[in-house]
Amino acid sequence: MTRTCVRYRCDACGFESAKWLGRCPECDAWGSLAERAAANRPEGPAAVPGTVAVPIAAVDALGAAQLPTGAPELDRVLGGGLVAGSVTLLGGEPGIGKSTLLLQALGRMAARGVRCLLVSAEESPAQVRVRADRLGTLAPELLVVGENSLPAVVAHVGALQPVVLAIDSIQTVHDPDAPGSAGSVTQVREGAQRLVRLAKELGVVTLLVGHVTKDGALAGPRALEHVVDTVLSFEGDRHHALRILRALKHRFGPTDELGLMEMTERGLTPVADPSALFLADRRTGAPGSVVTPVLEGTRPICVEVQSLVTQTGAPMPRRVAQAFDSGRLAMLVAVLQRRARVGLGDHDVYASVAGGVKVTEPGADLAVALAIAGARGDRPVDADTVVIGELGLGGEVRQVPQAPRRLSEAARLGFRRAIVPASTPDVSGMALVRVGTVLEALVATGIRAGGHA
Ligand code: TYD
Ligand code: MG
Repeated sequence: MTRTCVRYRCDACGFESAKWLGRCPECDAWGSLAERAAANRPEGPAAVPGTVAVPIAAVDALGAAQLPTGAPELDRVLGGGLVAGSVTLLGGEPGIGKSTLLLQALGRMAARGVRCLLVSAEESPAQVRVRADRLGTLAPELLVVGENSLPAVVAHVGALQPVVLAIDSIQTVHDPDAPGSAGSVTQVREGAQRLVRLAKELGVVTLLVGHVTKDGALAGPRALEHVVDTVLSFEGDRHHALRILRALKHRFGPTDELGLMEMTERGLTPVADPSALFLADRRTGAPGSVVTPVLEGTRPICVEVQSLVTQTGAPMPRRVAQAFDSGRLAMLVAVLQRRARVGLGDHDVYASVAGGVKVTEPGADLAVALAIAGARGDRPVDADTVVIGELGLGGEVRQVPQAPRRLSEAARLGFRRAIVPASTPDVSGMALVRVGTVLEALVATGIRAGGHA
């Protein structure tokens, strides 16, 4: 016996609910839920499942066969390469370089004899060719089709049986049988779901390009995040050459590896020495500047933390963090005030990480604290000194993961002295100053005169 159940579905994000709601609890859109005829559902317990449960050890491990793309930083973020039957969304603002990255990766795979199909729904094949020529990645084997009808794309895939299918972009392919205009959330979502089914059925590696807007409204791509296996975010300032690729979601590996590239006149090139790049414009000897080796994925990278402290004109002093967590900044200011008597109550505090990487780990705490205290007291930290350590609320300096590897990276760049947590083992080429509290660190760096500590 079956009965028809009415369900309501959000036009904006696809959220489904058994009852009508004025506002979608998933994406907060108002009046977006509309009735939708759901499939007839059998009543009572299902008799025979169509699937079989097996012991976990008998399950084929995914990810064993990864196809390297040949774009080193892309492979790094993917944890080796692309997995058969997987769907990867490459999201980023228009003009950031998504099509360029895609074309470089496809060109290299095609040149290795991997059958690749690029569906160009935005640019004509002629434009793609011009770009490939310019990038020096013109692989004669790469198949290109200018197409924006989804059923036609599916037909092409059926006929050509590519190993890799790339669609640039998901917003510009359109399914005439689905509701909504091209680029609408419903279209993007339904289109992606169709392509995910196709990927799973045929085992084709699928790459989807998705545009996101400056204000972070990932309208289309956000609705896709649940549908795809991997979400890569391609970020950077269009006015600067540096591009950062990170995985926001990855079903086949860790999500903490960062890919760093530079946009050049010949396309994207890997950044061979990120630390050198991030420190290139550093003004040594400036108060409020402290270098710290942070861990990005498995890579230690030296970055410069900067702070500016000024007398406030406002009733509430400002605490402004850039490329750094603002809650963490507020905590560090409080620790400095209470545990080291740094007077910041009537001062605005700005702290940032130079160069465009976002520092999310507490291992940079002590460096930020010393930058703030140094800026407040107008005292620089020695140019050959790096700082690592997490700060506790008691002002204690705690150990960070992989301290020796971070310090080796700093030594490689010519730093000779490091302010470190007490339990840090010796590292060759580095004079370590072990500190237990933020106050000891202030004294060790000369920001606070020893006698007053
Ligand atoms: P593109 O890949 O078209 O961006 P998206 O697909 O994300 O919209 O790249 C856009 C910018 O990159 C464009 O403004 C020009 C620049 N660019 C280079 O600087 N060098 C190059 O070799 C290429 C192909 C593009
Ligand atoms: Mg593009």
